[in-house]
Amino acid sequence: MPKHPTTPPIYIRTPTLDDSAEFLASLKSPNTRQFFRNVGMPPSNPAAYKKYIARISTDRHEGFFVCHKKTHQILGVINLNEIVRGVFQSTFLGYYILPQHTGHGYLTQGLRLVARRAFSQLKLHRLEANIMPDNKPSLAVVKRCAFHYEGLARRYLKMVGRWRDHKRFALIREDWLQHRCNPGKIA
Ligand SMILES: CC(C)(COP(=O)(O)OP(=O)(O)OC[C@H]1O[C@@H](n2cnc3c(N)ncnc32)[C@H](O)[C@@H]1OP(=O)(O)O)[C@@H](O)C(=O)NCCC(=O)NCCS
Repeated sequence: MPKHPTTPPIYIRTPTLDDSAEFLASLKSPNTRQFFRNVGMPPSNPAAYKKYIARISTDRHEGFFVCHKKTHQILGVINLNEIVRGVFQSTFLGYYILPQHTGHGYLTQGLRLVARRAFSQLKLHRLEANIMPDNKPSLAVVKRCAFHYEGLARRYLKMVGRWRDHKRFALIREDWLQHRCNPGKIA
């Protein structure tokens, strides 16, 4: 029996400049700064948002909003950063849910849709996620999406002013194909 019998009602789409006002307003909830304190704030002013859209418009990056199917509200963001082609076909994931929308499985479900897009449409072979060891909600997301743990990278990223260890996870196309055929195996 799956832990969560219902599928969250979400879809993914590409962010645009027209989303600026809604996106920036959604970051105005009182606990936003606290929520993002260890991982860095998302773009939180019009200039930073514009820069984000410019970045995901290049070949090296893809961005996705996770949105609610009924209300079309933006719930979260998933980015494929530094896409490397050639013999690598790989990318580094970045993601966050807006703090008012945690705890519903939206990000997990969104990541499954992004994985499908990455492996089938974008023809990538590997999605990497690097997570600080104390970020339990993020560790739970990659576990639910069947990522493999590949080891600890010491002082891997400089986050909020400090070099921090990260746990490295990856989902490769072969594992995704196997789990897609057997989704019950993913919690
Ligand atoms: C990491 C982060 C995205 C996780 O958010 P989240 O809301 O816990 O993740 P999901 O949307 O997948 O929701 C999972 C929760 O919904 C619950 N849930 C409800 N229905 C569900 C469903 N159908 N499927 C999966 N989970 C479901 C899960 O039990 C879980 O709740 P729990 O933590 O109480 O067990 C969020 O904490 C975040 O944005 N943090 C700040 C940025 C960050 O750390 N990013 C990652 C950097 S590596």
